[in-house]
Amino acid sequence: MTTITLVQGDITRQSVDAIVNAANSSLLGGGGVDGAIHRRGGPAILEECRALRASRYGRGLPTGQAVATTAGELDARWVIHTVGPVFADSEDRSELLASCYREALRVADGLGARTVAFPAVSTGVYRWPIQDAARIAVETVRSTDTAVEEIRFVLFDERAYEAFAAQAG
Ligand code: APR
Repeated sequence: MTTITLVQGDITRQSVDAIVNAANSSLLGGGGVDGAIHRRGGPAILEECRALRASRYGRGLPTGQAVATTAGELDARWVIHTVGPVFADSEDRSELLASCYREALRVADGLGARTVAFPAVSTGVYRWPIQDAARIAVETVRSTDTAVEEIRFVLFDERAYEAFAAQAG
């Protein structure tokens, strides 16, 4: 049985098995969630990201895919990095955004993670409208078969929280 919970706060302060990072394909850090996770998680995360770039992901992590590393100093066992699509009026990339949630859950299942914290992927720098992103996120996790027991959406501000609350019912 999977429960969906909503929290307004900082994803780097969550005590869960896995924290999902809204990364970019370089896996070498950035701003927003990515910056916060590397800042609070410490260098061990970046070291593992560099190792992934030197091996399986020589050309970077493709949009919509997910990969796990250590969580370093965070109160979690793993960080699951996923790369969201940049919003575009010209083409519908909804399936790529849905894939971030689906693939992160697949990776979580592979690890045996039972509690997973997700940010609102693509809704910051990548400009995805928050209402539509919330709809895609909640619909996707609801339709994904997973052993994860708690899916915790961690929203940074009131507007994002309300958008997810409207979807999660
Ligand atoms: N905890 C939870 N949510 C956060 C936090 C935090 N500490 N910091 C930011 N957010 C929220 C933002 O308000 C936004 O709603 O996470 C959502 C995603 O925003 P971004 O972190 O900008 O991620 P995204 O839009 O997917 O863009 C990814 O930004 O940081 C770079 O390296 C990253 O290039 C990549 C791009």
